[in-house]
Amino acid sequence: MKLTVIGCGYLGATHAACMAELGHEVLGMDSDMDKVAILNSGKAPFHERDLDVMLARHTAAGRLRFTASYAEGAAFADLHFIGVGTPQLPGEHAYDLSHLFTAVRRLAPWLKNPAVITVKSTVPVGTAPRVRDLLHEFAPAGDALEVAWNPEFLRESFAIEDTLRPDRLVLGFESEHSWAEAVLRQCFAKIIEAGTPTIVTDWATAELAKASANAFLATKISFINAVAEVCEASGADVTTLADILGHDVRIGRRGMRPGLGFGGGCLPKDIRGFMARAGELGVDQALTILREVDAINNRRRERMVDLARAQLNGTFQGKRITIWGAAFKPDTDDVRDSPALAVAHRLHELGALVTVTDPQALDNARKQHPELDYADDPVAAVENADLLLHLTEWPQFSHIDPYRLAARTPTPKVVDGRGTLNAKVWRDAGWTVRALGRP
Ligand code: UGA
Repeated sequence: MKLTVIGCGYLGATHAACMAELGHEVLGMDSDMDKVAILNSGKAPFHERDLDVMLARHTAAGRLRFTASYAEGAAFADLHFIGVGTPQLPGEHAYDLSHLFTAVRRLAPWLKNPAVITVKSTVPVGTAPRVRDLLHEFAPAGDALEVAWNPEFLRESFAIEDTLRPDRLVLGFESEHSWAEAVLRQCFAKIIEAGTPTIVTDWATAELAKASANAFLATKISFINAVAEVCEASGADVTTLADILGHDVRIGRRGMRPGLGFGGGCLPKDIRGFMARAGELGVDQALTILREVDAINNRRRERMVDLARAQLNGTFQGKRITIWGAAFKPDTDDVRDSPALAVAHRLHELGALVTVTDPQALDNARKQHPELDYADDPVAAVENADLLLHLTEWPQFSHIDPYRLAARTPTPKVVDGRGTLNAKVWRDAGWTVRALGRP
């Protein structure tokens, strides 16, 4: 099939490459000309495991290319995916849907034939009819256009795996037996034939599928982090506790790693956007739980600052702190709402001399936080540090030999914000070790 993918960020670029992998002819569209040029050269403009290889393969084969032209996109295919960003509105909890509606408005005038417009962006429930109305009003093809909703559940750093082998495929349509369903079933045939549970539903349920999945994932993380607070007050170990809870199959250990909490471009803004939409619908009480989920998550960052202060005899003034981690999680260069950088920034505000190191995210971190110092080498970065904070659990960090590292600083002290350093080995190597939620 021929199809376009509008918006080539973490979601769209991955989707475009994976659709080419499924054998389709794909045209990716993005208004950022620099991004289009990078993608056309077969490279990803961000770090995502295996994406470069896939982009290089399919751009070289001519099955995948990128453009900034909506006219070209509309002429190329009758199936269009939209994966533009829907960030949080500045100063509000609600989503900024301007990129989505702009994309729809710019595409619409070129749509002269029947087509399926499939939205993957995360939105508040009730957005699909607004997209349909815009298309029907501004496209020459009018009501010959069908809108489908196909929420995306991919995780950054597992984006390709999650796209090609998803846990489930959700397809939302305005009415039963729509033409769009046949088109999308053909598009995803290989995924469906591989046995992926495929749920066909209405627009609102499909929209809510994404909002509620992310709300649940955030709640699970904040639940174990709330328990971590109790562990800290009582001398228990939250990691062992999470293992114990996780053996109950109804609870499950996955997605319940205690630590510095969640960040990124999705979970934080999605719980806030979900609350905002519930408020608009008059059911805000239904989601007050998410306010607490957000508050617990933010308290983890404060707790990390408190633990660091305690290690430095109560003051940050002039203290040298090295932070391992800038990305919001390992194996990505994404620093949106990164817990590690939030802590780094706070410590800088409090007078510490903060040096941050990360295997992939330093360029993005520098742009967002020019006030901090950065270092490429996590071992050299510890030279003469008063304190080391482990805030993003890159495997590279837990593989560093703490004996070798201890020689670099006269005061080997570490606070583990992710619980993945082997505390016993670090202590044996001469480090004073503290960790969130652990004695
Ligand atoms: C999340 C969801 O997991 C995806 O299913 C969803 O499609 C995506 O948002 C999205 O809306 O696009 P992602 O933001 O890539 O994916 O990252 P996660 O792996 O879920 O991690 C989110 C944050 O939670 C990270 O900061 C991570 O360190 C933290 N986390 C995750 C924990 O603190 N504990 C955990 O057990 C899991």
